[in-house]
Amino acid sequence: MNWQEVCADPHLHDLPYKIELNEQGQILMSPVRLYHSAFQGEIILNCDAFSMKPRIKELLAVIPAAEPQIELCGWVKTCRDSGSLCFIEITDGSCLAGLQVIAEPSLNNYESEVRRLSTGCAVKVCGRLTASPAKGQAVELRAESLSVIGLADPENYPLQKKRHSFEFLRSISHLRPRTNAFGAVARIRSELNFAIHRFFREQGFIQVHTPIITTSDCEGAGEMFTVTALTAEQLRQPEPFQQDFFGRRAGLTVSGQLQAEIFALSHGRVYTFGPTFRAENSNTSRHLAEFWMLEPEMAFCDLSDDMEIAEALIKDLVGTVLRNCADELDLFERFISKGLLNKLETVLSQPFARMTYSEAVAALEHADRKFDFPVQWGTDLQSEHERFLCEELTGRPLIVTDYPKQIKPFYMRLNDDGRTVAAMDILVPGIGELVGGSQREERLDLLEGRMCAAGLDMEEYSWYLDLRRFGSVPHAGFGLGFERLVQFVTGMSNIRDVIPFPRTPGSAPC
Ligand code: 4AD
Ligand code: MG
Repeated sequence: MNWQEVCADPHLHDLPYKIELNEQGQILMSPVRLYHSAFQGEIILNCDAFSMKPRIKELLAVIPAAEPQIELCGWVKTCRDSGSLCFIEITDGSCLAGLQVIAEPSLNNYESEVRRLSTGCAVKVCGRLTASPAKGQAVELRAESLSVIGLADPENYPLQKKRHSFEFLRSISHLRPRTNAFGAVARIRSELNFAIHRFFREQGFIQVHTPIITTSDCEGAGEMFTVTALTAEQLRQPEPFQQDFFGRRAGLTVSGQLQAEIFALSHGRVYTFGPTFRAENSNTSRHLAEFWMLEPEMAFCDLSDDMEIAEALIKDLVGTVLRNCADELDLFERFISKGLLNKLETVLSQPFARMTYSEAVAALEHADRKFDFPVQWGTDLQSEHERFLCEELTGRPLIVTDYPKQIKPFYMRLNDDGRTVAAMDILVPGIGELVGGSQREERLDLLEGRMCAAGLDMEEYSWYLDLRRFGSVPHAGFGLGFERLVQFVTGMSNIRDVIPFPRTPGSAPC
């Protein structure tokens, strides 16, 4: 098989990394992957265009018989001096596992540097990768040279070998990605991000980059951060925004939905996925002022299609993480959330439960349980209600549909009963609301009526009404809170720990 054939073969794309040895026994790696049955574990190809040094993730897959010469750069996780040898565990962020380095006293800087290494030091190690006699690791690196690239003074370096609380780690958001849990969250986040784009691409959607600065408050909840170029003094003048940069009040988007609808009505199936902002003063473990939201929007679709695609998406994403992030999930199962794997497998193995809002309210009213917030038809479900429904009543993800119109935004399609809308929320155990979506009101007169009732300025939204004036079609979409998804998949209980840089009331440290 030659290079072109390997590239052209779709079966090769999910196989382990290809590693090549050159004539000196050094490893070269290319983004091409190894085709086990064709090469029988022998490593053949190199891609001239791109050759990077292998990292721990790839090295751990090496068959060590050849004892290749390698060079590894990373950070010291632990360093143990056994008296006659030093055992140094190095991590490089490519995977959860570290690589054990064995350093012998014959190294010329053994006394001066190697024995003094501490957690967090950056090093470069050259040596041979050999089979390891120790339990729990297939290979180890026998150092022939070790150079210190950056020291981390153990007296002052905040991350030590012991377990640190998540609260403490939040206070050092610039260092916490180096810990096992945050490293694993970052890899799972990235995996989910990629899987989202893959899923929609496979379903024929196109991605639309909706604006971050907007003049429309999609959700109408008055939670938009204002974007202004005015000074504090100018802001005190009457009608200040007329003099502002955009000539009217603008803000950071609370949702890309309305703009996604524009493209759904030209391209059929679209999605937008980006940062979203809400000046919502909720200091909870599920709310951020800046979060990422995925919003697909589909023309010629109704609520039932909307629920079907949301369920298929969530199953696909959970399945992807179960397949590709087994080590990370094992860490979360053991240290963060017992029963996590079981919970995720249940997502795949059973259809999501479904009930209407009215049925949910009836179930809550009959529940053998006291809630802090009273349950009454016409009021929004609180987090405690949502969690009761999906954790205790159904024990799996639950789609609640047909909410009262007065608790939902103007764009949701009015049902024939005149008092509920074609809305759906997906509630998941441990989190509550993960997805909020609906069929959109495509009938001009009814939409105008709802906008009027919501006190919206028809002039400002005339572009949105045009979508109903010209070639209007039934369409639907939903919004999935990306951080809540990462919480669900990892079992991390606080949303601040699944986004690299959380922004919450009173906190935006860097
Ligand atoms: O239910 P929401 O407000 O729906 C919308 O914004 C619609 N325009 C979506 C659409 O139909 N295209 O938000 C959608 C999801 C919620 O279910 C939740 O997961 C997440 O976004 N979300 C938040 N996540 C973190 N912090 C916050 N403050 C969030 N607010 C909503
Ligand atoms: Mg919602």
